Amino acid sequence: MGVHKLLPAVGPRRGRRLGRILRAALSFRLWLSLLALLCLFSFALFGLKFITLVGRGGGMESGISSSHQLPITGNVKKNSKEVEQQQLQHSGFGGVVIKAPGSKKRIQHFPCEIGFTETVDYLIEPKDLGNFTQFSLQYAAMEEKPLGVNSFESRFGGHQKLEEREKSFYAHDQTLHCGFVKGPPGFPSTGFDFDEKDMAYMSTCRVAVSSCIFGSSDFLRRPTSKRISDFSKKNVCFVMFVDEQTLSKLASDGHVLDNRGFVGLWRVVVVRNLPYKDMRRTGKVPKFLSHRIFPSSRYSIWLDSKMRLNADPLLIIEYFLWRTRSEYAISNHYARHCVWEEVLQNKRLNKYNETAIDEQFNFYKSDGLRKFDPSDPNTPLPSCTCA
Ligand SMILES: *[C@@H]1O[C@H](CO)[C@@H](O)[C@H](O)[C@H]1NC(C)=O
Ligand SMILES: *[C@@H]1O[C@H](CO)[C@@H](O)[C@H](O)[C@H]1NC(C)=O
Repeated sequence: MGVHKLLPAVGPRRGRRLGRILRAALSFRLWLSLLALLCLFSFALFGLKFITLVGRGGGMESGISSSHQLPITGNVKKNSKEVEQQQLQHSGFGGVVIKAPGSKKRIQHFPCEIGFTETVDYLIEPKDLGNFTQFSLQYAAMEEKPLGVNSFESRFGGHQKLEEREKSFYAHDQTLHCGFVKGPPGFPSTGFDFDEKDMAYMSTCRVAVSSCIFGSSDFLRRPTSKRISDFSKKNVCFVMFVDEQTLSKLASDGHVLDNRGFVGLWRVVVVRNLPYKDMRRTGKVPKFLSHRIFPSSRYSIWLDSKMRLNADPLLIIEYFLWRTRSEYAISNHYARHCVWEEVLQNKRLNKYNETAIDEQFNFYKSDGLRKFDPSDPNTPLPSCTCA
């Protein structure tokens, strides 16, 4: 535990910039309550399909307030934020094609342009990304069997009490349940196990792009290599989490791992002993807990497996986090903007037990979730209206 020092905010030289990103090792975690909330992935059985982008403890590491400005060389379009999610194309076909229910008419969603900086060469990580409360988090690593209880079952998510959950929403120093909870000695692994060499690799990552395919539910989409700078290829970890079933499917699809365990830019990491029977639920582990899986990471980008990474991760980070001094960015869905709609859609597509969906939805509502109001000028989810 300790406050680490950043290098002085200087010059556009590549070496310096590299240092600023790579030397910023995080030895402790400072999180907004929103992120703590995300740790409660076990409640999130379903969700909007999204790309998430998280800066870890951005700007809080030294407590220095600075008015350092980013040198933005790109062509910024005023409304480009409205169309952010489309840059990461939904499919390999140059756009999204969905069928309106009960009709033959197809609605097409094309990718929109985003005012990314042109190259990664002059990026500088800003010193103060925001103005967030400083606090540190610890994670429950192991749970003892309660005295006098016979039928104790250790669980990946642990046994968090509702009151503990409530408290975890507030930004203060605390120890919380955030997955990877082990049972007492003698109990079986609670799951999501990695090979040692993969763990060693992931512990080195400062910037991580990750995605997952479990249960052969999808095919592998490789990042668009020509859009990704050599710098990012060298310094960003691209990790695709799969289970063994998906691994053998990948091979039969012609995605053969090289001797370092890579398929193109993806380093394929096999997860053993999946903690949940439901693959969608297991997929929430890497999606929400990348800070546990990449413990030294400063930034991470989560990609839904339906997405192909079509832009340089550092340009994405600069655009969505640094430029706006944000700690977290989340893409809007191309069609649905509200949990209310998502609930209906999940039921319509029979994605999950309806009673369980309703229970969870009621839980969210009792937590204060309100319906998305597109006419609200402070709406946190601008919708994409590109033609
Ligand atoms: C940071 O927070 C302080 C105290 O809440 C406030 O006075 C200040 O204006 C904030 N600065 C920025 C840049 O938001
Ligand atoms: C659906 O969920 C409810 C509530 O969680 C549960 O009681 C019920 O057994 C589930 N039904 C099925 C078919 O899994």
